[in-house]
Amino acid sequence: MKKFIPLLFAGLSFGALAIGAHAGEGALDAKHISYSFEGPFGKFDKAQLQRGYKVFKEVCSNCHSMKLVSFRNLSDKGGPGFTEDQVKALAATFTVHDGPNDKGDMFDRKGRASDAFPWNFPNDEAAKAANGGALPPDLSLITKAREGWHGTFNQLINGIGGPQYVYSLVSGFQDEPADLAKEKPEGKYYNPYFVNGPWISMPPPLSDGLVTFDDGSPNKVDDLARDVSAFLAWTAEPKMEERKKTGFEVMIYLAVLAGLLYFLKKQVWRDVH
Ligand code: HEC
Repeated sequence: MKKFIPLLFAGLSFGALAIGAHAGEGALDAKHISYSFEGPFGKFDKAQLQRGYKVFKEVCSNCHSMKLVSFRNLSDKGGPGFTEDQVKALAATFTVHDGPNDKGDMFDRKGRASDAFPWNFPNDEAAKAANGGALPPDLSLITKAREGWHGTFNQLINGIGGPQYVYSLVSGFQDEPADLAKEKPEGKYYNPYFVNGPWISMPPPLSDGLVTFDDGSPNKVDDLARDVSAFLAWTAEPKMEERKKTGFEVMIYLAVLAGLLYFLKKQVWRDVH
């Protein structure tokens, strides 16, 4: 029986490797770009989140929803740092379908800070119909739902790479290689980073200079992709800064406690040693 145990382990690890390899099949690993919010002390760059919001609003929100984010979240601590007045003004640029009123009718009104971010489409079917049958997924949690690369050890060191996946996807459209041109499905685009790729129903959403920033920040495809992916990292984990701060405090607490326990142990065992 003993002989079988190492064999069993070998078998299991091989299985795990095979699954790991399978998960990576098809798509390229995301590009390893770095963000301000990485590492145990990393924080979101507020100006970048504000730019990312602008890219989302002006470009992505034409097709994608962001249902889990309300306008008022944009002024929450640890977020893009808009003031409450700015948030009210941002919300008021949207029209929200509301109701029924006391006559039982639906009506349109200006957005309020408490509204969830509205979607351009009334329902999934309408969104699919406008996008060649493919549903543009809600982007609130997308950076947690996708990984940029594979392997437990790799992800332990580099994180799961969700924001890098989104960055690589929106900036990584290419002309299809000549040998694949024949297979190109009608109305699809070539994107080697797409998990279910390489053919994707999303047209390349970004182009150089598509969004302009008041402070003249760079706005090439690469910059816009960085900003919007950082913004989507925040929507997926709005309490990240709080979590890191608590984690750090807990580590200090545990270190002090360990020190105290060490001296207590010395005291208790003084006569024995
Ligand atoms: C013209 C409509 C349109 C616009 C604009 C658009 N998308 Fe998409 N997007 C889609 C569609 C459709 C899909 C689904 C593609 C598929 O399943 O083939 C998609 C899929 C995605 C996915 C998911 C890919 C996956 O792994 O499943 C991400 C992430 C994404 N889009 C990000 C963005 C970002 C960020 C922007 C703004 C810079 C943007 N999209 C703008 C239509 C759009």
